[in-house]
Amino acid sequence: MANKKKLILDVDTGIDDAIGILLAVKSKRFDMLGITTVCGNVSVEAATLNTCKVLELVEAEEIPVIKGAVTPLLRAPHYEHRVHGEDGIGGALKDARPKKTADEGFAPDFIIDQVLKYPKQVTLVLTGPLTNLALAVKKCPELIHHVKEVIFMGGVVQGQGNVTPVAEFNTYADPEAAKLVLEAGFPSLTQVGLDVTRQVLLTDERINAIQNETLASYIRESTSIYRQRYFERNGVWACAMHDPLAVSLAIDKQLVNTQAFHVEVETKSEFCDGQMICDFQHQWGKDRNLQVCMDVDAEGFFDLMIKVLNS
Ligand code: BDR
Ligand code: CA
Repeated sequence: MANKKKLILDVDTGIDDAIGILLAVKSKRFDMLGITTVCGNVSVEAATLNTCKVLELVEAEEIPVIKGAVTPLLRAPHYEHRVHGEDGIGGALKDARPKKTADEGFAPDFIIDQVLKYPKQVTLVLTGPLTNLALAVKKCPELIHHVKEVIFMGGVVQGQGNVTPVAEFNTYADPEAAKLVLEAGFPSLTQVGLDVTRQVLLTDERINAIQNETLASYIRESTSIYRQRYFERNGVWACAMHDPLAVSLAIDKQLVNTQAFHVEVETKSEFCDGQMICDFQHQWGKDRNLQVCMDVDAEGFFDLMIKVLNS
């Protein structure tokens, strides 16, 4: 474990969160301190169950799973069963009865404890609403100085939203949490938004390149509903690897180009809650609080993902 990056993954598992977990575990690049779960695509209970199922699929039951927030900071949950299916992972492991269950504890406290235990060594990758991290920062504001880096999937700065015309799901589901995290002052905070995740499309051809039969058939089945939704909207059989792209940056930052900007999250609007507003021209003159992913090497990402899953 000595040379491995210490990682906490925070997930709302989620079809693509699940693939992000597979990528993190199979890459063998991380000392996985734990996987924390949050209310998002599905309830925190379902996200936890799905996480346990996925860990058993890759025989990684030893990784702790810690349950987190049951609701967003102030709002009612907004589940996405239409996109992620009844169970949240497209029904692919519906008959699995995992022995693994959640460990003791509450995700925000677990994040605080681990970060303080390993100062400046822990990478946090978050692929759901930012509720757990927001609660951790509220309880322990000095946390920001002890985390190595934070990478999150959420928001969109140039394109359209995927839940409303302007908002991406994770920032829409808990805009107050996203705002709090962006304003917290993390020295290294990277946003992986729809602007880049929409460019990493998992096609049939790419699934067929996965030679590990267990993983290939799991991914084919679990993404079937996801690809169907994408086809209905865009006329192409594929689905975006939003969350796996965020995980991949903890392995190789060169897959994207980032630029620092001051970014705000809207929380008080009739039509625009959850929207990210990026001050591209520095018109507000405020400190740059976010590294925004501007371009992605999609081929490079899939080369990495398929190589890892085949290993
Ligand atoms: C994000 O929302 C969820 O549907 C996905 O898991 C991803 O984290 C994309 O907007
Ligand atoms: Ca997610």
